[in-house]
Amino acid sequence: MNKTIGIIAGSLRKESFSKKVANLLLEMAPKGFSFKIISIADLDMYNQDFDDHDRVPESFIVFRSAIRGVDGVIFVTPEYNRSVPAVLKNAVDVGSRPYGKSVWDGKPAAVFSNAPGNLSGFGANHHLRQSLVFLNMPTMQQPEVYLANIHQCIDQAGNITDKRVVDYLKGAVDAYITWFKEIVA
Ligand code: FNR
Repeated sequence: MNKTIGIIAGSLRKESFSKKVANLLLEMAPKGFSFKIISIADLDMYNQDFDDHDRVPESFIVFRSAIRGVDGVIFVTPEYNRSVPAVLKNAVDVGSRPYGKSVWDGKPAAVFSNAPGNLSGFGANHHLRQSLVFLNMPTMQQPEVYLANIHQCIDQAGNITDKRVVDYLKGAVDAYITWFKEIVA
């Protein structure tokens, strides 16, 4: 099996914990899989007028093409006001249109949420899942992946040093890959 999984971090912040978790996942791709970060940093804000092909921004073309090129997607999201950051929702919306041409359709997904607080981005995790249902992205049910107190797991250099967190993430990635193989077989 030669498959590519896209990893999308839902934050633009330079020192984003979500981006650090996403980068750590890159090293966890098992044999037969490659993981790649798909950036949402340069995306224009979605406007339905852009569905007119003459006006589609270059950033949409690049992003949609990147999603088309992967077989599955792992979302690593922080939580803003008990939901996903607007930049991530924008990326979801950009990929979903024009109507009938969603690039998300059928791609197996997983949602990993994190927060410096104890609630670990639960609200964002489940808001995102709601969108993924509508987008027809089968999404890993178990294990759910919640990273609480993420700021305490990262060292000065920005690496995740807490072995329990690394092991937890590795277990979640392995579960995703096992489940992915079952549903794409
Ligand atoms: C937050 N933060 C936050 N945290 C949380 O656990 N639940 C929440 O609802 C919110 N809401 C929220 C709104 C806004 C506008 C900001 C800027 C922040 C804190 C947030 O978890 C924290 O800033 C993370 O570090 C953001 O993720 P990244 O950028 O580190 O990936």
